[in-house]
Amino acid sequence: MITVSRNSLGEPVFHLRAGGASYILTVFHGFLLHLYCGAAISDDDPEWLLVRVGHDSVVPRPASTPEGWFSLDIAPLEYPAYGTGDYRPSAVMLRSLGGNVTPGSAATALCYVSHEIVRGKPVPEADRQPAVYASPDEADTLIVTAEDPADGVRVRLYYIVLRALPVFCRRAVIENSSPAPAELERAYSASLDFTGLSRPAELLHLWGTWGRERHIERTPLCHGTVSVSSRRGASSHHHNPFAALVEDTTTEDSGLAVGVSLIYSGNFEILCDTDPFGSIRLLAGIDPTDFRWRLEPGETFVTPEAVIAVSDEGLGKMSHAFHRLFREHLCRGEWRDRERPVLVNNWEATYFRFDSEKLLAIAKDAADCGIEMLVMDDGWFGERNDDRSSLGDWFVNEEKLPGGLAPLVERVNALGLRFGIWFEPEMISPKSKLFEAHPDWVLSTAGRERSIARSQYVLDLTRADVRDYIVDAVSSILSSANIEYVKWDFNRNLTEAASASLPAERQGEIFHRYVLGLYDVLERITAAHPRLLLEGCSSGGGRYDPAMLYYSPQFWTSDDTDAMERLDIQLGTSMVYPPSSMSCHVSASPNHQTGRETSFVTRGHVAMGGAFGYELDLTMLTDEEKSLVKRQIADYHRYYALINRGDFHRLILPDDRVNSKSGRAAAWMVVSEDKSEALVTFVVIRTSIHPVYFLRLRGLDPAALYEDGEGHAYRGDSLMRAGLNLTKNYRDGESVVIHLTRRDA
Ligand code: DGJ
Repeated sequence: MITVSRNSLGEPVFHLRAGGASYILTVFHGFLLHLYCGAAISDDDPEWLLVRVGHDSVVPRPASTPEGWFSLDIAPLEYPAYGTGDYRPSAVMLRSLGGNVTPGSAATALCYVSHEIVRGKPVPEADRQPAVYASPDEADTLIVTAEDPADGVRVRLYYIVLRALPVFCRRAVIENSSPAPAELERAYSASLDFTGLSRPAELLHLWGTWGRERHIERTPLCHGTVSVSSRRGASSHHHNPFAALVEDTTTEDSGLAVGVSLIYSGNFEILCDTDPFGSIRLLAGIDPTDFRWRLEPGETFVTPEAVIAVSDEGLGKMSHAFHRLFREHLCRGEWRDRERPVLVNNWEATYFRFDSEKLLAIAKDAADCGIEMLVMDDGWFGERNDDRSSLGDWFVNEEKLPGGLAPLVERVNALGLRFGIWFEPEMISPKSKLFEAHPDWVLSTAGRERSIARSQYVLDLTRADVRDYIVDAVSSILSSANIEYVKWDFNRNLTEAASASLPAERQGEIFHRYVLGLYDVLERITAAHPRLLLEGCSSGGGRYDPAMLYYSPQFWTSDDTDAMERLDIQLGTSMVYPPSSMSCHVSASPNHQTGRETSFVTRGHVAMGGAFGYELDLTMLTDEEKSLVKRQIADYHRYYALINRGDFHRLILPDDRVNSKSGRAAAWMVVSEDKSEALVTFVVIRTSIHPVYFLRLRGLDPAALYEDGEGHAYRGDSLMRAGLNLTKNYRDGESVVIHLTRRDA
C-alpha cells in the first residue's frame, strides 16, 4: 500500500507499506529526502526523523533553501547526485557535453517534479532486463520524477511494493532531456541513507572464490566506505551482488537486517559509507569503474533492479522474504513450480573421457536406481578431448557419439531417463573452427595481447551477429534430439573488454552491453524452448545471481562437491537464494576436490539441501551404495515439497560453536508453510570426546505436538526453547536427518 500525505511545508510524503515493513520518503524544499526504512511504523509523516545538525563552512548548502541547517552533504537523500554539495558517494553522476551548462562539467541537483502511483509493477521503457514480476493484485508502484533544469537530466525513481512481503524494489530511469549529448558515469539502482541506528552497524556479505563460493562474513562499518563489488564482467565467485546492513547484535532471529540484492549478472558494487555524523549510505548498482554510458538528447538509461528486504526479526526473516520473492516473483517458466528431475551428471564420473557406450552404462545404472535424467557434460562437441579446444564449434563429435545425438538420446529415453546437455555458449577457443572464421568476434583491445584463461576467450556479446550465432548454434543442437535440460556454463571472466563494432565514445558501455547481450540470448533461447530446464553454471557458482535465476531456476552451486565444504557454501547461499535454486550433487569419496572421505549417507543428507542429483560413476558403486541411492531418491521425492517450498532456517553455521565441548557442527531445517512438518539436518564436522548436542529448532507451532518417527513426541515450544537432544558419540562427518510431523497432520 502507498499513501501520500503532506508535510509541514505542504510537500508530499510517501509511506510505502509492505508485509510488515515501512519505507518513507518526503519532498523537502524540492529535494527528495529519505525518512525511514525498517519494520512497519504507523506515522505517515515522521518529519522529526530529520537530523537538523548545525554545520560549518566546509559543508555547503543550496543557496536558495531558506533553512540554515539544510545541506545536501548531511541530508538523507533518496537518489543523491554528484557535484552540488553532497560529497558522499553519489548514486548518479552525469557529465554534460553541451547544452546550458559548461560542456564537460558534472554537477547535478535533482528536485521533485511530480509523482504517480500505479497498481501492479510497470516495466520502465519496455526494458528487457530481468526483474521481479507481480500482478496488479500483488504490487503497487510509486514513480517519482525529479529533474535538474540546468543540466537537463530527468530521473524517474521506481519504488515497487510487494504487498505480502517485506520487500521494496527500486530502479532508476535516467533521461537526458537536454539538447546536447551527455555521459553517465555513475547510475546506481538504489540508495538508502540511514540515520539513527541504535547499535553499531555491520555489513554482512557473501565472499568467495572458485570452489569456495558465498561464505558469510560480517564486518563492522568504519568512517569511510566498506564495499563489495565485481569488476570481472560477471557477478563473480568473489562477491555476490548482495549485502545486508545489520546491527552488531543481529542474529538469525532477532535484530535489524536490511538486505539488498541486485538483479544483475555483471559488474556491481554495494557500498556502505559512514559520514562523521553517523549517517550511513548504502548504494547498490552497476560498478562505476569502467562504466560510461552516452545518452543522446532524449535517450534514457534504465538501471538494473535492486531488491531491499527488511526484517526486524533477524536474518532468518530477511532470507525468507528473498526466498519467496525469488521463487514466486523472479524464477519463471514451466520448471518454476514443477518437480525437478533427479539427475546424474557425468563430469566427475568421466571428465572428457567418455563415449556413447560409457554414457549408456551410467544411464542404465541410473535407471535401475530411480534417477530421472542423464546430463552429458563438457566434451561432446568439436575436437574437445581436454579443455584446450573447440569452444564455439557446437557440432557433435561423432568419434565419441557415433551417429550424433539422436541415437544416444533415444536409447537414454528408452531406459526411462530424460536427457540433458552442457554448453558454454559465450566462449571461443583459439583452437576452433569458429575462431578461424571469426577472429574479430572475440572481446579484445586492438594492439594489445589478449589474456587467456582456461585456453579460451570471451565472445563479443555486444554484437548482434555473435548473439545470432549463439542462438542458432544452441537451437540447432536442441532441435536435433529430445534434449530437456541445458547446463549453461561460463568459465572465465572478461579482460581487454573492448569491441571492434563500437565507436570510441561507446567503449565505456562494453561491460553493461555484454550483460544485456547475454540476457537477449537467454531470453530468445528460453522463449523458443519453453519446456527446457536451464541450469546456470559458472565454474561452479561464479554467476549465481538473481538475474540468472530469471532464466534458470537452478544454478550449479559450486564445483566443490565435498559435503563438508558444501556446508559453508550452501548455508551462505541460503542467506539470499532459496534451496530450490541450489543444485547439489552426491559425488565420489574420496572427494575429487579435497581428497576427504565422507560417508555416502552424509553426502546424501547434504545434497538434499537443494536440487538433488549425482555426480559420480554409478557403474563403480557397490550394491549397498546403489540401494542407498534408491533410498535417497525415495526420501527426496517424499520431502520434495518441504525442501523446495518450505521455510528454510539456518540453525548452526559451521563457524559457530555449538557449546564449549562439542567440536564443530552445522545444522538447518525446513518447515512447511502450515507448520505441519519439518525436516532437520544435523552434520558433525569435527567431533570431540563426550560431545553434548542440544539443537534448538525454529519456525514450529509452539503449541503443536511433533512426532519424530522414532516413537518420540515433543511440543513445538520445547523443541524451540529447550532443543532436540542429539547427544551421541558421533564420528567426524556423521549426520542425522529427522522428519517431524505434527500429530494432527
Ligand atoms: C565447470 C563446471 O562448473 C563443471 O561442473 C563442469 O561443467 C566443467 N566446467 C566442464 O568444463
